[in-house]
Formats: sequence, structure tokens, C-alpha cells
Amino acid sequence: MATSVIKKQKVLQLNQLSIKQKTNQKQLLHQVDLTIHRGEMFGLVGESGSGKSLTASAVMGLLPKQLEISDGMILFQNQPIHQLSVKQHRLLRGDKIGMVFQDYNGSLTPFIKIGKQMIETLRTPNNLSNKQAKEIAIDVLQRVKLPAKRVYSSYPFQLSGGQKQRVALAMVLMLRPALLIADEPTTALDVVTGERIIELIKELQQEIGCSVLFITHHLSDVLKHADRIAVMYGGHLVEEGMAHTIGNHPAHPFTELLLKSMPSLERKLERLPMIPGEPGNVAEKGCPFANRCPKVIERCVQTGLELSELSHQHTVACHLYEDVHTTGYLDGVK
Ligand SMILES: Nc1ncnc2c1ncn2[C@@H]1O[C@H](COP(=O)(O)OP(=O)(O)OP(=O)(O)O)[C@@H](O)[C@H]1O
Ligand code: SF4
Ligand SMILES: [Mg+2]
Repeated sequence: MATSVIKKQKVLQLNQLSIKQKTNQKQLLHQVDLTIHRGEMFGLVGESGSGKSLTASAVMGLLPKQLEISDGMILFQNQPIHQLSVKQHRLLRGDKIGMVFQDYNGSLTPFIKIGKQMIETLRTPNNLSNKQAKEIAIDVLQRVKLPAKRVYSSYPFQLSGGQKQRVALAMVLMLRPALLIADEPTTALDVVTGERIIELIKELQQEIGCSVLFITHHLSDVLKHADRIAVMYGGHLVEEGMAHTIGNHPAHPFTELLLKSMPSLERKLERLPMIPGEPGNVAEKGCPFANRCPKVIERCVQTGLELSELSHQHTVACHLYEDVHTTGYLDGVK
């Protein structure tokens, strides 16, 4: 079961966040609004190219040079961070915001032993002695369920993929960040190892009380593990709600299709429905999903839209729901 939100303190807020390419002004992220509370696991899901990693990079202050935040704000613990210098952003990374990447190799330096890397990471912000840092490193390696002493004295190339991802996770979590961003942390791993990594993130999240922004292609992962979910399409946030609400009452036609295309035990012998059209086909005008949407109506190709509230904590950006002001779910719409 998903963890419950400990307190409604806001850890991260994106207000109308927009990102564009500097050279041709092409907009890649469109007015994204999102709030993550303390102790919450928030799932961000969408097809490849929908803007998930750009969102994470903007929060980390790691946007590629060709891109810029063109509008909106990022608040971390109620402080604006979208205009920080590279140096100021670096101070946030580590004990304030930690990130686990899809490519765990990028988090580790190949020819330096794991223990040495961990000690260096720990000592810089914390002013610890070598002995204290080593104790913490060994402890955290045990917590991610690795043979701590052996891994501590190993080089990264002596470890398996799953072990390296655990080390990367340990290195981030030993700094006890307030926010952990996990961008596709399991993509490079087999299903069982990947599932263990997610379980581990949840366990450690509860232990240190951090919030998690969990990014994935797989709706099934966020339905299972996240408290709340946002669905992205073509750089737009198209639906947001509690995981159980989205799982039971998906409103946006794209979310509905994502849900229908999820494999399940009951449907394992059936041919799963495919989402029509090509991923990355984003309509330039009107609704971004209009070129692929089975429910498209005339208004969709002409008029842009904003998120509107369907019920408490459930918002959707779709013309089908524009006239719906309800506290329930209207069958007539679906
Ligand atoms: N450095 C860059 N220069 C230009 N466009 C970029 C750059 N980085 C990303 N983009 C574009 O921004 C859009 C969003 O990319 P992003 O990496 O956020 O997608 P994603 O949702 O993380 O996809 P995936 O699931 O494949 O990781 C894509 O259209 C991508 O081509
Ligand atoms: S606005 Fe129109 S095209 Fe877009 S998701 Fe809704 S019905 Fe489909
Ligand atoms: Mg990505």
C-alpha cells in the first residue's frame, strides 16, 4: 500500500513551470503545476519525451545549456529556487534534494572504490571524521541490503547492475535529503530487482521521512507505490489525483488508455490494447493529445485547455470535462 502523507507541508511546488529551447524558442514544458507534500510519494508518469526528466532537471538546476525556464516558479520548502546560480543550486543537492538516475553508472566514479566515494560524499557537507563517515557508509550499505563490508571495498565494476543501483541509492539517502527524485531508477534492471529497489526506496522514505518524486513510464508502478500521481503528455500535465482515484476513475482519455494497456494477471492471455498513433505526436494547437485521441471533438483541435477540478484532489485537462462541476464522476462523460 502507498504511504500516507505525514503532514500537508509543501516540500516542492512547481507553479506554471515552462521550459523552452533558447535557440528556436520551442516550448518543451507548458505551465506545469505540481505540489509534493512532506513524506509523500508522488508519481510522475508519461510516455517517452513527455517532459518528465526535464521537470526533474529543472528542480535539480541541471537543465541542459540549450534550454531555459521561460516562465513560472519552482519553490523548495517555500523558497524560490528557479533563479539560483549554479553554485547555490549545488548547495541544495545532497542533503536537501537527492537524485537517483536511470543510469546508475553516472552516479559512480569507475576507478575509485565505493567506500572512498561514499566517504568523500559524506565528509564534504557534514564535516565528519573518516571514522564517523565510514560507520555511516557501512550502515547505509547494510540498509540497502548489500554485503556492506565487501561492497565498501569494491570498485563499481566488481558489482552487478542491481548492486550498483543500490549503492547509488545508498549514496543519496545517507545524506537524508528532504526530497528524493528517482528518475526511472529501475529501467536498467530486471523486473524483480527493479521491484526490490522501489520497495527499498519506500522503506527508506518512511525511515527518513523524505518526499519522493518517482518518475516512470509505467502507470502500474505508480498506481502500486505512489500516494498521488500526475500524468504528462507532450510537455503538458494532463491529469492529477490520488493513486486510487486515477486507478479507479481515470478521466483523461490518455490516462484511460494507459490503464487499459497495462498487463494484468487476468488479462495476460489477451492482446492488450495499444494507444493509437505515435508517441511524441503532439498537436501544436488545441489539446496536445488531439491527434491520437479516440474521443476527439471539434473543440479539441481549436481550443487550448487548462486543468479543471473534477473532484477533491482530482484535476484533468480535457474539453470533455469542461462543463462538469461535480463532486462525483459523471458516467455520461465517459
Ligand atoms: N537538451 C535538449 N535539447 C532539446 N530538446 C530536448 C533536450 N532535452 C530534452 N529535450 C526534449 O524535451 C522533451 C522532453 O524530454 P524529457 O527528457 O523530459 O522526456 P522524458 O519524459 O523524460 O522521456 P523518457 O521517458 O524517454 O526519459 C523531448 O521532446 C525531448 O526531445
Ligand atoms: S481535449 Fe479532446 S482530444 Fe484532448 S483528451 Fe480530451 S477529448 Fe481527447
Ligand atoms: Mg526521462
